[in-house]
Amino acid sequence: MTKENKATVVNVELGDRSYPILIGRNLLERAGEEISNRLPGSKTVIITDETVKKLHLKTLEESFQAAGVEYSTLVVPAGEKTKRFEIFEHLCDDILALRLERGDAVVALGGGVVGDLSGFVSGVVRRGMKFVQIPTTLLAQVDSSVGGKTGINSRHGKNLLGVFHQPLWCWRTRPFWTL
Ligand SMILES: NC(=O)c1ccc[n+]([C@@H]2O[C@H](COP(=O)([O-])OP(=O)(O)OC[C@H]3O[C@@H](n4cnc5c(N)ncnc54)[C@H](O)[C@@H]3O)[C@@H](O)[C@H]2O)c1
Repeated sequence: MTKENKATVVNVELGDRSYPILIGRNLLERAGEEISNRLPGSKTVIITDETVKKLHLKTLEESFQAAGVEYSTLVVPAGEKTKRFEIFEHLCDDILALRLERGDAVVALGGGVVGDLSGFVSGVVRRGMKFVQIPTTLLAQVDSSVGGKTGINSRHGKNLLGVFHQPLWCWRTRPFWTL
């Protein structure tokens, strides 16, 4: 565990798929700077839900603007029902319409639903795009954003469609949960 710009960094050691988890306050405001340092020149698409959009999207977008990170935003309904094939398909098509490439990044801003869905999308569009998790619920921070399990539900059951796709890195920040 190391300190990096006041964030605690926990490295998940997975060989060439290793990634850092950044834990600290106000990381959302620094997200643009982090992305432009780690993925210079890449475009991004932020995926979030209606609830998190109202609470935190503006901060993230402002940070991207300040750092000159090119981004688009896709918003899905909040809740477990969003983890379904129709929404997955829409997101894949929207990202292709934006002409994003494999080296570009999908940024998941939300709870486990947004993280699982966005991770699956990023794992299959163009056979795998870069993926960044910004988990905003406690469950997503301590569980679903780590481990690379992504997916959606099927009418046959929960989490039955998906891929393992590790994030490039993952933030756990506290503006969401004032401890
Ligand atoms: N991939 C994995 O390893 C893994 C592990 C555990 C759970 N999961 C999945 O995670 C999902 C559940 O995640 P969840 O509990 O985060 O649910 P969720 O993503 O549906 O979030 C719960 C609600 O909280 C809202 N929300 C999100 N962030 C908020 C914030 N900062 N302030 C206020 N409201 C906020 C959301 O809009 C939503 O309405 C399930 O689909 C489950 O299958 C995945």
